[in-house]
Amino acid sequence: MMTTADPLACDFEAFARVARTRRSVRAYQPDAIPDEVLDKCLDLALLAPNSHNLEPWQFIEVRDPAKLARLRILCLNQLPAREAPHLIVAVARPDFWRMGRRLMQAAIESDAPGMHLPEDVRVALRAKYRFIIPMIFQDGPFHILGPLKRFILWAIGLFTISWRFDAGRAGQTLWATRTTALACQNLMLALRAAGFDSCPMEGFDEPRVKRLLGLPGPARIVMVLAAGRRADGGVAPLYRFDRTLYVRRV
Ligand SMILES: Cc1cc2nc3c(=O)[nH]c(=O)nc-3n(C[C@H](O)[C@H](O)[C@H](O)COP(=O)(O)O)c2cc1C
Repeated sequence: MMTTADPLACDFEAFARVARTRRSVRAYQPDAIPDEVLDKCLDLALLAPNSHNLEPWQFIEVRDPAKLARLRILCLNQLPAREAPHLIVAVARPDFWRMGRRLMQAAIESDAPGMHLPEDVRVALRAKYRFIIPMIFQDGPFHILGPLKRFILWAIGLFTISWRFDAGRAGQTLWATRTTALACQNLMLALRAAGFDSCPMEGFDEPRVKRLLGLPGPARIVMVLAAGRRADGGVAPLYRFDRTLYVRRV
């Protein structure tokens, strides 16, 4: 039975309020979100589950006035992009796997908080980040080994239950996008819990946004998040289809 002193105690009703009142807000008040609040929300975004703990994500809050003005236009000048005081670009970074691997390897050998590991776990993690992670992600120049890996995974899968991980360039993009989208949701819920609002946007000119932010080829923009405090009339009525269409028990 949980008590309030229980570090795992949670408030379901409080979460339900956050989830229910998170809406895609299109009209905003002009005042900015205080830096310390936005930082806390971004920190919570980075607590999202992430594949292999490799953190293949990046959040770029565009503050430079000229860049921000340009970004609003590159988001097709849609209402939330025009109105929100903040625009945060959520980027999937499949290419970050190398950095994540290096950082994990250093962390495994360190005494960092959260890394007080039993020796057998440390040995297993060492092997994972030394051998398995490169095996999954190292595709050679231009992902030349991607098709070969996909073929091998397919062939193995004909004979046995196997892990058909996302190989090749498209697979790695999907891999990083999944994780980044989870962090986006954390960020939107955190903003709501802090009394602010957001709108995820996929309507933007990706190549131009990438150029504006100097992002490299493998980076993919998952969404641009408008953020701020909602203004009256900034929210469409909430509507969802019949849950039986989407929720099954088998
Ligand atoms: C991946 C994604 C992309 C979206 N892109 C846009 C967008 O470009 N512009 C916009 O106004 N809303 C956008 N939305 C918001 C959806 O229209 C909105 O989530 C949906 O209508 C449900 O409303 P709610 O978020 O208020 O519950 C997007 C939502 C998601 C999840």
